[in-house]
Amino acid sequence: MPSVERKRILNLFAQHVSAGKVRFYHRYGFTLIPGRREGAYLYDVNGRRYLNLHCNGGVFNLGHRNAQVIEAVRRGLDACDIGNGHLISEPKALLAQSLAACLPGDLKHVVFGVSGGEAVDAALKLARAVTGRPGIISAQGGYHGHTGLAMATGDARFRAPFGPPPPGFSQIPFDDLPALESALTPGTAAVILEPIPATLGMRLPAADYLREVRRLCDRCGALFIADEVQTGLGRTGKVWAIEHFGVTPDMLISGKGLSGGIYPITATCVNRRVYRFIERNPFIHVSTFGGSDLGCLAALEVLRITTDRAFLAEVNRKAARLAAGLETVRHAHSSIFLEVRQLGLFIGLRFVDTSLTLVVSKALFDNGLYAIYAANNKRVLQWLPPLTIADAEMDEALAILDRSLRQVQTRLSYRVLRFVARRLSREPV
Ligand SMILES: Cc1ncc(COP(=O)(O)O)c(C=O)c1O
Repeated sequence: MPSVERKRILNLFAQHVSAGKVRFYHRYGFTLIPGRREGAYLYDVNGRRYLNLHCNGGVFNLGHRNAQVIEAVRRGLDACDIGNGHLISEPKALLAQSLAACLPGDLKHVVFGVSGGEAVDAALKLARAVTGRPGIISAQGGYHGHTGLAMATGDARFRAPFGPPPPGFSQIPFDDLPALESALTPGTAAVILEPIPATLGMRLPAADYLREVRRLCDRCGALFIADEVQTGLGRTGKVWAIEHFGVTPDMLISGKGLSGGIYPITATCVNRRVYRFIERNPFIHVSTFGGSDLGCLAALEVLRITTDRAFLAEVNRKAARLAAGLETVRHAHSSIFLEVRQLGLFIGLRFVDTSLTLVVSKALFDNGLYAIYAANNKRVLQWLPPLTIADAEMDEALAILDRSLRQVQTRLSYRVLRFVARRLSREPV
């Protein structure tokens, strides 16, 4: 597309959607306007190709425009529409059955939504209703969405302009059991956590952390909610990340990838105890577009693909291959590239300094790879390749990373590197 057309889109977007966003991307030389998209690749409207390792937090787990998901929705378009959330629905029933079949314990019932935030809101409402308590505990630096109650679990900078927060919310450091133990009170309704918080830079918890969280919740009568919006659906090499930690929550939230990148849908999966409240109050939480019939058809196909043993085995094989390649690159650039955090294809690359991570992500972008840093730990670059990524595409990603790191180091002066090193101790790990 000629650059004059690109300018037209930017102007239009700036005029009617967000001039701030246009300015931000322009300032960092990061302006990507998606045009054609296919598999692991995203093309700017000017035709420039990017390997997509952002994947919008897992929305594109199955790559862009996955043919099987498109076909499922296309068949649905021939026969149905969004449906009516007030009525009984076969696609909803079938999807809930599929989710129940791949979830542990008695997580056998589902409340559908459109967005992750909405699904989290539903979980927190239900936790309060079921326990009759107000308190909600979440992790500092985690993220559960920008809607009402979900927003209240998160970072103050995203809620400060919107008035006083609702009462009952508190935060603790992630992976800190003594902090949780002292935060839990007889008024605590629920603890909500991502098994591996993405915004904290793919911070992997101690092996027994989530099991201990479960035990502490049980002891105090609080519910445990696992937010698997990013970590679920095969991303970590198992269907759900909680399976790695041998823990069953009272509620589990799925979103993003459940849509197949084609039709938005989310699920708040609940156990028998929570379900009893929904059974008694079937119209107390209504969502017009939540669990639309078309969304259910997309999600059914996503589950069919991602719960397949052979598919998961492939994810693990790719994860091991990528881990070996990343270790080689890390070794070659060990003065600035400190650590690879990885479970399956949920990956964080930790660098020595925040500003360096920004420079690296820009170099990657200039070399045709799109990835972003973790919002609450900017030393970590998030890598979420599509789970369907090909070996050749992984090799391409590794080659781009190696080239970008070489370019960054030759551009950085000795003074800058010393400045970076001095800041090390002040940065979160
Ligand atoms: C872990 C997690 N939970 C919840 C959400 C909110 O999802 P949504 O943006 O669909 O509301 C996100 C979004 O990034 C997320 O990463």
